[in-house]
Order: sequence, then structure tokens, then C-alpha cells
Amino acid sequence: MKRRVHFVRKSAAIILTVLAFVSSASFSGSATASVIGNDVVIVNEDGKKIAVAKSDIVDDTESGKDIEDEASLIEDDQLDKIAEESKKAAEDFNKRNGNADTTSDILIEDENGSLINPSFDDDWSLILINKDHLIPDDYTFELTTITDSVTADVRCAGALADMIREARYDGVYLYIVSPYRDLERQTYVFNRKVDSLMAEGYEYDEAYKRAAQIVAPPGTSEHQIGLAFDFVTDGYWKLDEGFADTDGGKWLAENAQYYGFILRYPKGKEDITTIEFEPWHYRYVGTEAAKEMVRLGLTLEEYDRMIGLVE
Ligand code: DAL
Ligand code: ZN
Repeated sequence: MKRRVHFVRKSAAIILTVLAFVSSASFSGSATASVIGNDVVIVNEDGKKIAVAKSDIVDDTESGKDIEDEASLIEDDQLDKIAEESKKAAEDFNKRNGNADTTSDILIEDENGSLINPSFDDDWSLILINKDHLIPDDYTFELTTITDSVTADVRCAGALADMIREARYDGVYLYIVSPYRDLERQTYVFNRKVDSLMAEGYEYDEAYKRAAQIVAPPGTSEHQIGLAFDFVTDGYWKLDEGFADTDGGKWLAENAQYYGFILRYPKGKEDITTIEFEPWHYRYVGTEAAKEMVRLGLTLEEYDRMIGLVE
């Protein structure tokens, strides 16, 4: 019952948020909102669906994948506030914890063909987290709240807000479905994937192996350090390969680098990342590194190895 009350209250909040967005956007006429299953659906007076927000955890049976958390539509005002507050908080964090200013010994070619030592004054953003590089026990970071269900490392929340806002200027609406997850949540999401594969008939070992190519085993997910986010976009509420062909997927693939985000699990690099192609999962690495990785066609594993950050 408590959950139901929570759900209803939350749905009401989402309806208000989505209506606020609808009324601030350039739609004419009136809009109505209704809760359909786990979706809050906004329909304009012509009956055209103009916005949807996920209001609870859903399973996308059509694609066979789980939409792992909630999609969150963030209002424009809120984006401005996040961007400003998080930049200040990030400066404070860096002052308190020391801002590593590191220059790699390795030489790489820059875009003009000159040899340079890549420097990164924010090497926290390049931390490699995967099955071979677990989140260190002493890893320090601070979370900031973007909406009730969305939290992020304060140092990248400003860039995240800027990116969502810029996409919106281009008419592309990005919704965050998986932001920061704590260990408990990652464990739940991972076990749920193992269970669903076992329900399909796989033995535990095989189910575990397959699950680990889709959801990072607990302790090895970038979502647990608040630097990775999964996105969906209007009209496509699935986390599957088709997202790559949506306006949202295309916008991110082209522009995320300018806000310091990379497509973390690209197609064709599955052997290196050990994770299947995830066109919806973006990881903050800082703008310089992101642009370099896109220019050179490198994953974070390859880039960190190139600059000598990992063996
Ligand atoms: N889906 C990605 C790999 C994660 O769980 O972090
Ligand atoms: Zn993800």
C-alpha cells in the first residue's frame, strides 16, 4: 500500500513536471496527462503523444531488456540551477580534495599532427571501471541530486545539465533512465538479469556470464561512481540497439563529446569492453579526453592504456 501511495504521489509529481515542460514548450492548444501502466503519457488536443515519462521501474518485454531505473524529464529551470550549483560544488570538492594536474609521459599526435603530452587536470574523470578494474575501496566522490530519482557525481552534473539543455535546443528530448546506482541497486539489477536469463532456461553459470555482458557485476559498474548515465528519448522507450537510430541516439553519438561524455560501449569493441553495444550508456571523461577518444576511435580501456593510466 505504501508503495502504491508513493507511486500515485510520484505520478502526480511527474504529471506536473511533464505538464510544466509541455506548457513551457512551443506546443499550442491543451494537453492531457494520464498514467498508463508505468508511463505518464501526455497527449495534445489532436491526440498526438507529445511526451512520456517513466514513473516506475519497468521491464521492456518487447526488446527483452529491462529499463533499469526511471526516465526523468528535467525542467529547463532545474537544468540551469544544476549547472550553476554543480560547477560551484565541483570547485569546492576539488579545493578540499586536491585537483590532480597530471601530464602523461606518453606522446600522442594532436589533431594538427604535432606530438603532445596529453594532460588531464581531472584524472578522476578518466578512472577505468570494468571487470578487471573494480571501484577502489577508498574511492571518494560526492553526489548531487538532480531530481528525486536522479543523482550524479557533482563534478559532472553541470556538464550533464548543459548537454541535456543543448539537446533540447536542437529539439531532442533526452531522459535519464539510469543515473547513479548504489551497490545494493547494482546488485539488484544484476541479479534480476541473471534470474531472467535462468527463466529463459540458462544454467546459472551461463546466465551469469551472459548477464555480465549486459549489466556490470556489482562493484564494476560506472553507474556506482555517478559518472555514467543511460538515456532514452521521446518515442523510443527501449534500451536496445534501435536507440542508436533515434534522433536522441544520433544526437548523443555526435555531440556528447563536446560535453565530456563518450559512448562507453561501442559496436565492434565488445572484446575490449566485455560489454555488448550500448548506444544509450554515456560516461563522463572530460571534454578533452572525450574529443580525443572520438577522434582516435578509442574506448576508455584503450585511451587509459595509451596515456599510461592503466597497464
Ligand atoms: N550496463 C552497464 C554495463 C552497467 O551495468 O554498468
Ligand atoms: Zn548504463
